[in-house]
Amino acid sequence: MKTIDVENGPKGLPAIVQGCMRMPALTVDEAARVIRNAYDLGVTFFDHATCYGKNGEAETRFGDAFLKTGIRREDVFLQSKCAIYPERSVFDWSRESVLKAVDEILTRLRTDYLDALLLHRPDLLFDPEEVAQTFDILYASGKVRHFGVSNLAPMQIELLKKYLNRPLVFNQLQFSLEQSQLVDQALYVNNKTTEMSVSRDCGLLDYCRLHGITIQAWSPLQYGFFQGVFIDAPQFPQLNGALEMVGRKYGLSKTATAIAWILRHPAKMQVVVGTMTPERLKDICTACNVVLEREDWYELYLASGKFLP
Ligand SMILES: NC(=O)c1ccc[n+]([C@@H]2O[C@H](COP(=O)([O-])OP(=O)(O)OC[C@H]3O[C@@H](n4cnc5c(N)ncnc54)[C@H](OP(=O)(O)O)[C@@H]3O)[C@@H](O)[C@H]2O)c1
Repeated sequence: MKTIDVENGPKGLPAIVQGCMRMPALTVDEAARVIRNAYDLGVTFFDHATCYGKNGEAETRFGDAFLKTGIRREDVFLQSKCAIYPERSVFDWSRESVLKAVDEILTRLRTDYLDALLLHRPDLLFDPEEVAQTFDILYASGKVRHFGVSNLAPMQIELLKKYLNRPLVFNQLQFSLEQSQLVDQALYVNNKTTEMSVSRDCGLLDYCRLHGITIQAWSPLQYGFFQGVFIDAPQFPQLNGALEMVGRKYGLSKTATAIAWILRHPAKMQVVVGTMTPERLKDICTACNVVLEREDWYELYLASGKFLP
């Protein structure tokens, strides 16, 4: 397994992360097989969120299943995210809410600490001083070892950083060949003939690289707002043709080639994959064995519908 060192945080993390958003669909035994398979492949990092399944169902399923695997707690990296409360239609970073969420996560995952806690989406009413106090309490109690965010823009992170006493080590963001906004705008700069020049994230990729924040790419195989898989989807013939051709050169499937495209970026991102099919994860991990040549990386990018200025 290819590994990633976080500049201001943990080292030797697997480049491929097992996302657990789709785990509620599994039985406990099936979930145990998914966890064991991931672990055996070196995918020892598991991503959760309180909102994956009703009442934290993904975390509950994982907690029950993990016990059955016999894997030691200290041999895996458990991350979860809080802030999204669909039943209340709010995002909530208040101290009371985050502390309560962490206690509930720990109970569901059947552990006494999280390796990382991410704030899932920006609470429009967030108070950075309150967040700093909350993180201090969680760190001092030993309940959370590292902190990060998800779907946050540079200025929001700057505002948080002004008060935090601990580094933010991750920003989990949507990034795939089909949802490649993180890199698009750099190419078109201020050109007014194309929508591609519109900056939607204020230089987020460069910001994270400058500040040693590791990007975790979520939904790496999905188009739209995780609407479906672009692999073999009839609406992406050119992209699938290029994935097939480039993949053949490296001995990779189309799926693994799409993952290799993300791993090739020098920002050294982790890729959070959501497959619940052990064979598919094995295939995805083969992406770690190659480094795409520049021409191949660009060929895939252009086949996903972009053009060079
Ligand atoms: N921070 C955020 O806001 C946020 C948002 C969304 C997700 N996430 C995280 O990112 C993780 C991954 O998200 P995701 O599940 O949308 O990612 P994904 O890996 O892009 O998609 C996984 C889904 O695609 C299917 N799939 C993958 N390859 C396929 C292929 N070649 N052909 C057909 N189906 C294929 C999988 O089915 P099988 O199970 O059958 O393989 C699974 O249902 C989540 O688990 C979660 O941890 C974070």
